[in-house]
Amino acid sequence: MSIRTVACIGAGYVGGPTMAVMAERCPDLEFVVADRDESRVRAWQAGTPPIYEPGLEEILRVALRRNLQFTTDVVSAVRQGQIIFVSVNTPTKTFGEGAGMAADLQHWEACARAIRAFADGPRIVVEKSTVPVRTAEAMDRILNDGPGPRKFEVLSNPEFLAEGTAIQDLLEPDRVLIGGPDTAQGREAVEQLVSIYARWVPRDRILTMSVWSAELAKLTANAFLAQRISSINSIAELCEATGARIGEVARAIGLDRRIGPRFLEAGIGFGGSCFRKDLLNLAYLCRVAGLDEVAEYWTAVVRMNERQQTRFVAGMLRRMFNTLADKRIALFGFAFKPDTGDTRDSPAIAIARALLAERARLAITDPRALENARRELADVTDRIEFWADPYAAARGAHAIAVLTAWREYRDLDWSELYRHMERPAFVFDGRNVLDVDALHEIGFNVVPIGAPARIHGGDPAAHLALT
Ligand SMILES: NC(=O)c1ccc[n+]([C@@H]2O[C@H](COP(=O)([O-])OP(=O)(O)OC[C@H]3O[C@@H](n4cnc5c(N)ncnc54)[C@H](O)[C@@H]3O)[C@@H](O)[C@H]2O)c1
Repeated sequence: MSIRTVACIGAGYVGGPTMAVMAERCPDLEFVVADRDESRVRAWQAGTPPIYEPGLEEILRVALRRNLQFTTDVVSAVRQGQIIFVSVNTPTKTFGEGAGMAADLQHWEACARAIRAFADGPRIVVEKSTVPVRTAEAMDRILNDGPGPRKFEVLSNPEFLAEGTAIQDLLEPDRVLIGGPDTAQGREAVEQLVSIYARWVPRDRILTMSVWSAELAKLTANAFLAQRISSINSIAELCEATGARIGEVARAIGLDRRIGPRFLEAGIGFGGSCFRKDLLNLAYLCRVAGLDEVAEYWTAVVRMNERQQTRFVAGMLRRMFNTLADKRIALFGFAFKPDTGDTRDSPAIAIARALLAERARLAITDPRALENARRELADVTDRIEFWADPYAAARGAHAIAVLTAWREYRDLDWSELYRHMERPAFVFDGRNVLDVDALHEIGFNVVPIGAPARIHGGDPAAHLALT
């Protein structure tokens, strides 16, 4: 089969940037991306993406002028593409068996059925969404059911981009995984997909393997990354109880080349649409396979993460004289990490809701995520203000809580912020990005994660468990 057109169903955080980069790198191919969400499609078509990602607009502009189009017409995309990527959302199931753990595959299956119904010739179907092990096999059965020759080859090509650095990750991936069936047709389909990536990715970074290994490798990568965050956060808690400093511990262990320095920042925990979902999904798979201890091991990573947010709010309450009722708290950052506007599963959501439960008033600021923050908290907005300007959010506040490690928060005029706050003024640095001593000198009471708090007159909450 000769490939002229690549189609993709799903124009979200993964489908949009991935196809924009592929189109930019493969000028000889046509790309068509279909999504049922009309407003998203319109935004992509206009060159103003519905998501914020550094470097995306420039790449998109080049591709839109040449060989990339977005459409709401899934049928026409299925008809045009010889290769069809499926990049729809696979959230945690909220109903029925496996609710709260398993992946909800209804969107994925709907795509498989649309492809089966509307493809007028053989197709290579590429699983881009993160899915449970053996999903490709199920999709293969839906697509190829019935008599006659096989029309569809299903490959797994999980995406490893990280939001905030998606374009860089797509242009220079650490590796590309392509899983395919070990049959003549399967191997040929894998080669077709390899040849697309090989236009810009060195061959030795394109790994081919079985479909199941590729699916499991994606879940495992996310589980390991999340586990590192929960591990360092568990030690941060011990630091707080003993007077050690997590920054020093992390630096010391990070210099060990077997461990490495990345993903060792203690804080209020991981968020985003993937880590929690993929961990729960992995644990669910283990449970279904009868591996209860393995499931328990990975579930503990999620529990440790949730604990960071509970602990953070409990610490605020203790330091602020055991009542937050009617106090104004400025939340600096709502995105789950810097350089994105994405708030899905952001730790800020749990923290905001816990503070509201204490009857605090919130002033939320974020350089990119205000609109999404508003949507996340739509049911409770009466006690919340949203401010683009952090100085306005902090005016009259009793405390500032830094929830996203945006670089600009470091460079704010903290004396100016202090001047317009209630006394005593607190800063809870949930991302350990601020200069604790400098802020303390200005007059703030400063509470980092995993290190001693600097409280004027002494920290009432300091109790060294091991003295
Ligand atoms: N976000 C990330 O950083 C990331 C990284 C790697 C992998 N993934 C995985 O990639 C997949 C997609 O994630 P995302 O963040 O892009 O999700 P998303 O919600 O941003 O995008 C999914 C898109 O699919 C569309 N869609 C759903 N069903 C459809 C259908 N039947 N027909 C047409 N369009 C349909 C939705 O309208 C939506 O725009 C998930 O499985 C996720 O786990 C995400």
